[in-house]
Amino acid sequence: MNLRNDPHGRGVDTASILPPVTHDHPVRAQGNRLVAVADLDERRVVEVETAEHGVLAVGVTADDVPFATSNVCRHQYAKLGRGRVTDDGCLECPWHRADFNVRTGAMTAGPKGRIFGFKPYSAAFKAVGNAFRLRTFPVEVRDGAIWLRD
Ligand code: FES
Repeated sequence: MNLRNDPHGRGVDTASILPPVTHDHPVRAQGNRLVAVADLDERRVVEVETAEHGVLAVGVTADDVPFATSNVCRHQYAKLGRGRVTDDGCLECPWHRADFNVRTGAMTAGPKGRIFGFKPYSAAFKAVGNAFRLRTFPVEVRDGAIWLRD
C-alpha cells in the first residue's frame, strides 16, 4: 500500500496511482459546452464549472461514453472531478477510491484503504451512500466536445 499525504493533510491511501491533477481550477463551461474531449488527460475526468449546476465532474468512459455528475463524493466530500475513470467505466474518488456508476450515480464500491476499507464499514457506507446518489446530467459529444443536453 502506498500511503502519502494528500494536499488536505488527511494521509489517505492514494495507491490507485493517480497521475497529478493537471487542472488546479475547474474548467469553465461555455454555456452548455462543458469541455473538449481532447482536453481530458489520462484521468478521463475533470471539474467543470457551469452557470446552472455549479461544478460538475465531466468525462468519458474507456468506451467513449460521456458523462456529467455532481462533483462531491458521498463519503467525505472529495472532489470527484479530481479522481479518475476506471477501465470498467466507474468514477473513482481520489481520496478513498469509492466507485460510482456514472449513469445512475450509485456507489458501486465503498471506500477502500487501510482504515476506510474495513469491510463492514465500507459495505455499510456503500448502502448509506446509495440513499444519496450522485446527480447525473444528460450529455452528448458534439464537435469534439461534451455538451449538456437541453
Ligand atoms: S472521500 Fe470519496 S471515498 Fe472517501
